[in-house]
Amino acid sequence: MHPDCEKIMLTEEEIRSRVKAVALEVDRAYQGKCPLVVGILKGSIIFYSDFIRDLSIPVELDFMAVSSYGSGAVSSGKLRIKKDLDKDVSGRDVIIVEDIIDSGFTLANLKALLHERGASSVCIVTLLNKVERREYDIVPDYNCFEIANEFVIGYGLDYNEQYRNLPYIGILKREVYGG
Ligand code: IMP
Ligand code: MG
Repeated sequence: MHPDCEKIMLTEEEIRSRVKAVALEVDRAYQGKCPLVVGILKGSIIFYSDFIRDLSIPVELDFMAVSSYGSGAVSSGKLRIKKDLDKDVSGRDVIIVEDIIDSGFTLANLKALLHERGASSVCIVTLLNKVERREYDIVPDYNCFEIANEFVIGYGLDYNEQYRNLPYIGILKREVYGG
């Protein structure tokens, strides 16, 4: 385990089997369709690449980078589009793939934006859901794990751009972020 980790919250094996199960549900729900799968950079990349390989339906891939957080662990309260989609979403079934829902700010804004742009459906798939922290009315259509209010790293999730490449999800030691 990484020395900055308090403990491992979810092992590689636990993540692997849960992501597979959720992908199977999505696969069933989208039979006969070709959704645009939108990954939210950068936190979702590992989850995204595992998730899409567990789908048997045809998909198109696209990415967006937004920020509601600065470099640290405290929300700044404004959504900024840093990289927009390449594809036009009008008339498309869109699946947003996100690493974690915290306050719900990012996804509430993104979902509204994609509807405004004419997407015919927008569904949210998340790896982690911190239900306790919710401030915006947003519920993921598919969620892999509900977690307690801890700052977590690994499997794509970062603190100050570090730890994304850890293969498991760990709880970051409080002394590292001074929380
Ligand atoms: P929201 O807009 O408040 O729902 O925040 C969602 C974003 O905050 C995620 O996409 C993450 O980038 C970041 N975030 C929230 N909690 C954590 C965490 O525990 N570890 C790493 N990033 C987090
Ligand atoms: Mg982040």
